[in-house]
Amino acid sequence: MALPLADRRKGHENRSGNDGTITRFGWKAQNKSLLIFAGEAYNVEMGVTNELFPNPRETQGGCAGLGHPNDNTFGAGNENNPGGDVVPFALFMRLLAPPTPVTSYGNVSAASIQRGHNAFIQAGCALCHVEQMTTDLSRITALSQQPVNMFSDLLVHHMGSALADGVSQGNAGGDEFRTAPLWGLGQRIFFLHDGRTSDLFAAIEAHDAAGGEGRISELTLDSFGASTFQDVLNFLRSL
Ligand code: HEC
Repeated sequence: MALPLADRRKGHENRSGNDGTITRFGWKAQNKSLLIFAGEAYNVEMGVTNELFPNPRETQGGCAGLGHPNDNTFGAGNENNPGGDVVPFALFMRLLAPPTPVTSYGNVSAASIQRGHNAFIQAGCALCHVEQMTTDLSRITALSQQPVNMFSDLLVHHMGSALADGVSQGNAGGDEFRTAPLWGLGQRIFFLHDGRTSDLFAAIEAHDAAGGEGRISELTLDSFGASTFQDVLNFLRSL
């Protein structure tokens, strides 16, 4: 028996071990803020220690002679960049404009995109890929109480063994991932957390994994037939 759509929505928040509030950034929604993300990336990806992540991890030791933290508020920078790099980098990410969806493109009609949008909702994709949220009151006017059409609930969901990476971060287990935001999808080349495919069709079919919360929704979309599936691909590429 088909479940009512409302019953299919699962997922849960990932939360900070420090203050217990919801965390939203990263494949497993494991990071509290873009500032934390920036500090982590400087250290873990680039080997640049900083005030948020002060301990060196690099094996080459190239930055060791500089003293730690390599990037810091009071020691580094110049008049244009007084606070080191991490804070301005986080601000850069926060202030990037969202992608702008298009109403038609190439030989894809507005009617097909509209049909795809409807099917996306009817199949239950939008239960996890929530179309719109609104930002809270912010000191930065451009970010204050703004609609955000990111197509994600920012919750983590069990996606089944075929997508699992076995990594646990906070409350997110080995087969759990944050609902991937779909805005800007038309500009993306690789899909899913490990970039395993550049085929959008395959990325959607991957929801069909045993034990995955997206399975019913994916099977429902399949049941609409190839032409409607194509409309959904057209819709997603318009975002
Ligand atoms: C139970 C929640 C859930 C439902 C329902 C769901 N998705 Fe997803 N979706 C996810 C999660 C979680 C990911 C990230 C998986 C990963 O990265 O391995 C994802 C990833 C994607 C991606 C890849 C995006 C990218 O940038 O890599 C696409 C495309 C997508 N979903 C489309 C759909 C469509 C179409 C439907 C409806 C048939 C659907 N989803 C239903 C949770 C869901």
